Amino acid sequence: MRINKKNLLIVMFLVGAVSATSFCEVQTSLKKVYIDELGASKATSGWGTSQANKSIDGYPLRIGGREFDRGIGTHANGRMVIELNGAGKEFHAFVGIDDEVGDLGGDAEFLVVADSKIVWSSGRMEGRQEAKEVNVDLTGVKQLQLVVKQADGDNYHDHTDWADAWITHVPGATIKAIMPPKPKPYILTPRPGSAPRITGPKIFGVRPGNPFLFTVTATGDRPMNFEIKGLPQGLKLDSKSGRITGKVDSRGEYKTTITATNSKGKAEREFRIVVGDTICLTPPMGWNSWNCWACAVDDEKVRTTAKAMVDSGLINHGWSYINIDDCWMRKEGDDDPAIGGPARDSEGNLIPNAKFPDMKGLTDYIHDLGLKVGTYISPGPTTCQRYVGSWEHELQDAIQFAQWGFDYLKYDWCGYSKVSGNKTQQDLQRPYILMGQILKKVDRDIVYSLCQYGWGEVWKWGADVGGNCWRTTGDIRDTWDSMAGIGFRQADLYQYASPGHWNDPDMLVVGKVGWGPNLHDSRLTPDEQYTHISLWCLLSSPLLIGCPIEQLDEFTLSLLTNDEVLQVNQDPLGKQARRIKKDGPKEIWAKEMEDGSMAVGLFNRDDFDSRTIELRWSDLKLNQFYRVRDLWRQKDIGVYEDGIDAIVPVHGVVMLRIWPIPKTAAMQMRKIGKLPEPK
Ligand code: GAL
Repeated sequence: MRINKKNLLIVMFLVGAVSATSFCEVQTSLKKVYIDELGASKATSGWGTSQANKSIDGYPLRIGGREFDRGIGTHANGRMVIELNGAGKEFHAFVGIDDEVGDLGGDAEFLVVADSKIVWSSGRMEGRQEAKEVNVDLTGVKQLQLVVKQADGDNYHDHTDWADAWITHVPGATIKAIMPPKPKPYILTPRPGSAPRITGPKIFGVRPGNPFLFTVTATGDRPMNFEIKGLPQGLKLDSKSGRITGKVDSRGEYKTTITATNSKGKAEREFRIVVGDTICLTPPMGWNSWNCWACAVDDEKVRTTAKAMVDSGLINHGWSYINIDDCWMRKEGDDDPAIGGPARDSEGNLIPNAKFPDMKGLTDYIHDLGLKVGTYISPGPTTCQRYVGSWEHELQDAIQFAQWGFDYLKYDWCGYSKVSGNKTQQDLQRPYILMGQILKKVDRDIVYSLCQYGWGEVWKWGADVGGNCWRTTGDIRDTWDSMAGIGFRQADLYQYASPGHWNDPDMLVVGKVGWGPNLHDSRLTPDEQYTHISLWCLLSSPLLIGCPIEQLDEFTLSLLTNDEVLQVNQDPLGKQARRIKKDGPKEIWAKEMEDGSMAVGLFNRDDFDSRTIELRWSDLKLNQFYRVRDLWRQKDIGVYEDGIDAIVPVHGVVMLRIWPIPKTAAMQMRKIGKLPEPK
């Protein structure tokens, strides 16, 4: 039959009649499945293990005084993914915070998501609140997600129940819960070419008369030969390794030119040496033992990592510090001979524990590789892990650190609470002022890293006490909520960052982490990891890798070796990115660069959908032609007059750098095909 207007109506009527009949039949014979029958193990949970017909702690499900026989007890942030394939009819549940939390203050939001669209939200719910009833029509829905999210910035006590929760569906359909699929890593960073490309910072600060240690880094085939013009008196360059050593007595700024040559070509770059009071002119880049090994750290693990820093090629991208965190000292009174015993000798000198039998040997080994080395201690009588601290031995310890050859000190508050008094602003600053004064006097440049979790708005006084960086938050974990919560919370701190003074949102959680001795792959998705590195680079944060370098996989290596992304972090201007625009989950951050360009991050914080983010030059208060480069892909994408739109994946980022160019030049570049037309 040919379909024309008239018989189309007849067809529509017949189809309507048939579907109405079958709908009625289906209505009467719908089946019901309780979500606890689909397997509580499929419901992920931010703490503990989800339980069928019980709360997360294993008690009867109870919300606002009402008990339920069935359901799933879980914990924010969690999710259950259920495949319906269009066979579902209705979802029903009562939701709320389980009464077992009492007055401890749990809160959360419950979301019902149908094919990536939020179709029901409970809003914020708190403990003791009456259960809310959910009824959602599932007609045509392929995939249902039941999501619980923390509501107040942390997930403490967020015990969340999906009670009396069931789905009706057509008979014979397979309704099953699946583990949320784990997205596959994808690599964007191009492999470095074989010709030389100079990497690392373009500026380096040193105090007059102190030992100078800097390794010029470059990618490209080896052997490579380094030369430098304009080196101030007192310094020399080793042409094979690129290592500059010696000392400079006269203050001043020295402009040098570095050349790197190999069989495939030659690269040249300006490098400024600033001899003065400020060191750490670009954010420190390196490794720290805490996020992987915690107290399982020992001499061998540190050496293995340092060696791997060289063997993996990371050193050629500017990664330079190998930092030992807590647990290298002795823990007095501990039965374990590896860590117990007197913490100091009869003269009060620190004695490292048996896992660090030769501290000077270790630092020499690391220096000989062309790297620097860092240590850790607390201003209190003990560290966080109750190993000995520097309390009443500050000067002696700082001299010891310098003698051992350390280049970096993380000074972690922790045990200081025992002696600090009331934690007034003065109490908070006292130990940091003291160590700051001492470090200025020792005859070695030691990067001073303040760790007191952002208390007393440390960003306002960290630089005054001599700090080169200061932690702005508590400890990071390898979850989206932790990483993104911390990272995006830095938005108002941009004014406190400058060369030598950096906000520190904690160390990186890519690769294998685990806080020792057992490690797991970072639970961040690949897109979340791109966001992590991009954001930390835009924020001019210290970049401290927290995984064992010798166990790096290809994806993690690619994240840590994108020189154009790292250059954003190491830019000599030392500005921190500002949040330019926030539209729901869509955020635009921009960082001014020394050469007049801007580095821009387009972030999508939405949990379910990719988003198109429109970057307009007017948002950046700019109004001319810009050449736009995709930094992760290291590719120019065009010349744009007003701005650019980009599709950004869930929890992902598009990282750009834009350079202003005159209109005539822009037109000419397009004409000769040097740059593609905008897409
Ligand atoms: C915490 C600090 C961590 C780690 C740990 C060691 O206070 O924030 O980064 O150093 O102590 O015990």
